[in-house]
Amino acid sequence: MRIGKVLITAEQIDAKLAEMGAAITEDYRDKDVLLVGILKGAFVVMADLARHIDLPVELDFMAVASYGSATKSSGVVRILKDLDQEITGRHVLLVEDIVDTGLTLQYLLKNLQVRKPASLSLAALVIKDGIDRAPLEIKYEGFHIPPVFVVGYGLDFEGKYRNLPYIAVVEDTE
Ligand code: IMP
Ligand code: MG
Repeated sequence: MRIGKVLITAEQIDAKLAEMGAAITEDYRDKDVLLVGILKGAFVVMADLARHIDLPVELDFMAVASYGSATKSSGVVRILKDLDQEITGRHVLLVEDIVDTGLTLQYLLKNLQVRKPASLSLAALVIKDGIDRAPLEIKYEGFHIPPVFVVGYGLDFEGKYRNLPYIAVVEDTE
């Protein structure tokens, strides 16, 4: 594979996260919010988004693996690490790096809703357009991109390139 065109620069990401953080700060002003990052991909978004939120938020993480090939999700999700804390009665904001088929988030929403949080909303930095997916309400969304495979800013190809500060298209995946 090789890294192709840069779709979203580090500066664009930071500006977008600042906007999303300001909106979250406004909406959760009088609430006690728990940010839940979905590992591994969301670790970068989580770190930067959290610092754009001007509230004493708490953070937790879940680690999931979805079965499938390197570039295609199967919708079968395995929880590798659950939340450390209970979320009953809490305002929970799930933070995801990218929404492709939406199957991972759908599974997680169902799984977390059972625990009866006071509210459960979604934030995602990247949303792929042109994908036939079940409706998902993403309250805080970053960028819409075409349905191409991308790496960087937490997103990987076979475990690598999560540390790129920008988001770029992957070419020649064979
Ligand atoms: P979904 O369940 O199809 O929405 O995919 C969710 C997960 O697949 C994301 O959290 C990513 O970990 C991974 N993923 C989806 N698209 C990409 C991509 O373009 N690059 C890297 N990882 C991706
Ligand atoms: Mg992944």
